[in-house]
Amino acid sequence: METVVSGIRSTGKLHLGNYYGAIKNFLKMQDEYNCFFFIADLHSLTTHPTPENLQDNVKQVIVEYLAAGIDPEKATIYVQSDVTEVVELYLYLNMNAYLGELERATSFKDKVRANPDNVNAGLLTYPVLMAADILLHRATKVPVGKDQEQHLEMTRTFGNRFNRLYKNEYFPEAYAFSYGNNLIKIPGLDGKGKMGKSEGDANCVYLSDKPEAIRKKVMRAVTDSGPTQENQVKPTEIQNLFDLMQVVSTSDTVQHFDDLYNKCQIRYGDLKKQLAEDMVVATEPVRSRIEEIAADDAYIRKVINLGAEKARESAQQTIKDVREIIGFRKF
Ligand code: TRP
Repeated sequence: METVVSGIRSTGKLHLGNYYGAIKNFLKMQDEYNCFFFIADLHSLTTHPTPENLQDNVKQVIVEYLAAGIDPEKATIYVQSDVTEVVELYLYLNMNAYLGELERATSFKDKVRANPDNVNAGLLTYPVLMAADILLHRATKVPVGKDQEQHLEMTRTFGNRFNRLYKNEYFPEAYAFSYGNNLIKIPGLDGKGKMGKSEGDANCVYLSDKPEAIRKKVMRAVTDSGPTQENQVKPTEIQNLFDLMQVVSTSDTVQHFDDLYNKCQIRYGDLKKQLAEDMVVATEPVRSRIEEIAADDAYIRKVINLGAEKARESAQQTIKDVREIIGFRKF
């Protein structure tokens, strides 16, 4: 069975865009592949060397993924820093990662620009640690978006270089992977592009948002002054609301408001009210699971321990093999 690895940033709550995109893919993958989903808490040190609430962030991510349906029995869900084998592989790979190629990484250049006072070696070698995450389980599939494509290419470079150097074929090549259903568009509420945290909290509906918060955000979503001609094309901000409705409402509801729009009889307040209620209903099961799981520390501990155990088993085999290949042998 092929192996999937995905690292999850340890900051931030899940929003509807994450839920209907990445998470739905994860739910399918956990039934079909040998999946490792981990929280990339080591990576977070590259930009936040003295994190204040590392443990809370890790907990929140775990809780939300479990609530969304990731099954710790099917997939291996673990915390990166629990599996220190990755650090050893990172060191080996660092010996064959060149300054020039690391400096050329787009993510590095972006971070240098954003934070010129903290250009540390860990930031430079971020892609090496990411390669170590993937190669640690000899994964072939990595469910990440376009922004991570260059990191995956570097992962293949480092793995192939290792293979060439030590004359073997130990590491397979990993490629980006999705089911194509992340074509489902989840726009934000700001009348512009995708739902995304970087556009601000008002733009996102989070899975953990209470019904009142959802209603408030949706009622404040950007609209225009209304259609003036029958059957006119919808401007982006209105199309966005219909796209969201498409995801959380019944097709009858969508049709109803579409007809009103086309007849120039739509009242955006009514549409938003309906959209908010349907969002509340659509997210309710996950939201109540989040609250339930967050209150159950014993369960969270159990999940984290189980994940660490399964991930370590896979990682220890790789490290044993790699040591052997490099030539560290027991006397
Ligand atoms: N760099 C990824 C991101 O920013 C997170 C990540 C770290 C990752 N290690 C990984 C993703 C390994 C996939 C596989 O989203």
